[in-house]
Amino acid sequence: MLAVIAVEAGAPEVLRVEEVETPHPGPGEVLIKVAAAGVNRADLLQRQGHYPPPPGASPIIGLECSGDIAEVGPGVTGWEVGDACMALLAGGGYAEYVVVPAGQVVEPPDGIDRVTAGGLMETAATVSSNLHLAGLSSGDFFLVHGGSGGIGSMAIQYAKALGATAMATAGSAAKLDYCRSVGADLAVSYREDWVAAVQDLSAGHGVDVVLDPIGAKYLGQHLTVLATEGRLVVIGLQGGQKAEVNLGQLLSKRGRILATTVRSRPVAEKSAICARVAEAVWPLISSGAIRPAPQTVLRLEQAAEAHRQLESGDNLGKIILTTS
Ligand SMILES: NC(=O)c1ccc[n+]([C@@H]2O[C@H](COP(=O)([O-])OP(=O)(O)OC[C@H]3O[C@@H](n4cnc5c(N)ncnc54)[C@H](OP(=O)(O)O)[C@@H]3O)[C@@H](O)[C@H]2O)c1
Repeated sequence: MLAVIAVEAGAPEVLRVEEVETPHPGPGEVLIKVAAAGVNRADLLQRQGHYPPPPGASPIIGLECSGDIAEVGPGVTGWEVGDACMALLAGGGYAEYVVVPAGQVVEPPDGIDRVTAGGLMETAATVSSNLHLAGLSSGDFFLVHGGSGGIGSMAIQYAKALGATAMATAGSAAKLDYCRSVGADLAVSYREDWVAAVQDLSAGHGVDVVLDPIGAKYLGQHLTVLATEGRLVVIGLQGGQKAEVNLGQLLSKRGRILATTVRSRPVAEKSAICARVAEAVWPLISSGAIRPAPQTVLRLEQAAEAHRQLESGDNLGKIILTTS
């Protein structure tokens, strides 16, 4: 099969399409013929050598895909060759075929084409599992950074569907407009005083749940803006790993800081996350309550270009690679 291989750690140019051996499913696994694979920020880190695949995972980049079942491993029930599917992967998405535990494979939402499906799983799994962990519920104030990105646009819409007030930051006027178009009650530039804007909209209540892809850079502001019993959920470290925590501030608010990744979890946990995505998120997508992010569609052979575009920060929504 053809797959995108990073010949060494480095710039997007290290990504080459090469012929590699097609994998075969073991017990409890299926082989998917990939139609489309989403490009995620974590893929850039893996290419640079900063985010190695977990033990046992494919070294090929790619955390999500859509396609058809091509082979069913021993002990797998419920899937047949030719079934349309999509999967949450620990790696291997940038290829014509990928092997994945059957629990991490779900049927696509009704009415969604397979290119769009290729870019939905990672964001749906990350957003729904973390908002569930944080206990986001109706009437809460919710904040996400990068509201026009893959994670951000899903987070705004899922939070709205849960009945929360959704607030988002973004880096340009067009991206702020996009956040509003998918339902953000507040969209504010992260170059401005977003803490004041959030306090203003919540009438001083603060934020009940923050979904935070930035980390260290915003920790102080997050502790300031957190509501009493608020939950800060760190899912990314684009703003660094180390910062000082004012425990007094956290203590007086009875606040909680949580931090998670989806990728390194055991198969059983990822399978449970996928089952919840199919049950709780897909109906919202099929009904139109959650609109998939705008897409830039490129061919698998253009993986380096896809990484350049995502790295530039100019991209809005998801970048998706399609196989021929
Ligand atoms: N823990 C997990 O399991 C998990 C899973 C998936 C993703 N993630 C993390 O979630 C983050 C988003 O992933 P993605 O795939 O959605 O990437 P993406 O589409 O590239 O989005 C990244 C977003 O970060 C925003 N951003 C950059 N600098 C910022 C700043 N200083 N302040 C506020 N926002 C800023 C960008 O906003 P503008 O475009 O407006 O500049 C952009 O929307 C990444 O850090 C990724 O590693 C974590």
